[in-house]
Amino acid sequence: MKTGKLSEKIIWITGSGRGIGKAAALALAECGARVVLCARSSGEINETATEIHTIGGQVLAIPCNVSDQNQVDALVNRVKQQWGPVDILINNAGVAAFKKIVNTTVQDWDAMLDSNLKAAFLCSQAVLPDMLEKGAGHIINVVSVAGKQPYYNCGAYCASKYGLLGFTEVLRMETRKHGIMVTAFLPGATDTTLWGSANVDRTKMMTTAQVAQGLVNICASEPGCMTEQVIMRPIGGDL
Ligand SMILES: NC(=O)c1ccc[n+]([C@@H]2O[C@H](COP(=O)([O-])OP(=O)(O)OC[C@H]3O[C@@H](n4cnc5c(N)ncnc54)[C@H](OP(=O)(O)O)[C@@H]3O)[C@@H](O)[C@H]2O)c1
Repeated sequence: MKTGKLSEKIIWITGSGRGIGKAAALALAECGARVVLCARSSGEINETATEIHTIGGQVLAIPCNVSDQNQVDALVNRVKQQWGPVDILINNAGVAAFKKIVNTTVQDWDAMLDSNLKAAFLCSQAVLPDMLEKGAGHIINVVSVAGKQPYYNCGAYCASKYGLLGFTEVLRMETRKHGIMVTAFLPGATDTTLWGSANVDRTKMMTTAQVAQGLVNICASEPGCMTEQVIMRPIGGDL
């Protein structure tokens, strides 16, 4: 068993079947954390769980749409029964569609607001009672640089991420006096499927492993001096 700071910590990473969430889950499992994976579909989280088992890690893979309150509550109860309450929640699940506002459908809008914003509220609310009782815990919200500055063709995405940053700041105000840490993580362009077929230069993006290391560092923050906001960008800046 690893003996570092994260050893045996129960860390729930939402949206961990691929991309940043998967890379973070693998990196955290390597540090000895017990990781909880979830995504709407089961194939990719099961594959990730197999990779984690291969490196000797501890993992639970639970299909869950994190914008559905019943599914979120069921996941949290199952984790509590099998392992105990969640120590660290990483609200990472997210979707994007790159369209001008005039072409954005109500379905696009709802999909982004549900997965990128409502889900963070539901998952945070589901783990908060145990964290408040323990007087400890850490909630890390994967925002984006698009939560702080506008980008063309990102109307709904920016709306969801600006909202998530605002939610994060209020969550921190309300919970810090109870010993709970809340961190906003704002990555820039990272090479994942989130970009779909967008016409962008992926060689200029960060890798998921680089961004995952940022999340590992935040998870290992010292209690008593909270990291409030982390911005990570490709060395060449925005694309
Ligand atoms: N890539 C970038 O350049 C970048 C930059 C800044 C911030 N971010 C943020 O980083 C996070 C991860 O993005 P990524 O680039 O790694 O995307 P990705 O490769 O597309 O992975 C997204 C993950 O989230 C899951 N997911 C989406 N909606 C979900 C829901 N409602 N319930 C459960 N799981 C859900 C997906 O699985 P299923 O489809 O199976 O549900 C998948 O596992 C997102 O919040 C994104 O906004 C990304």
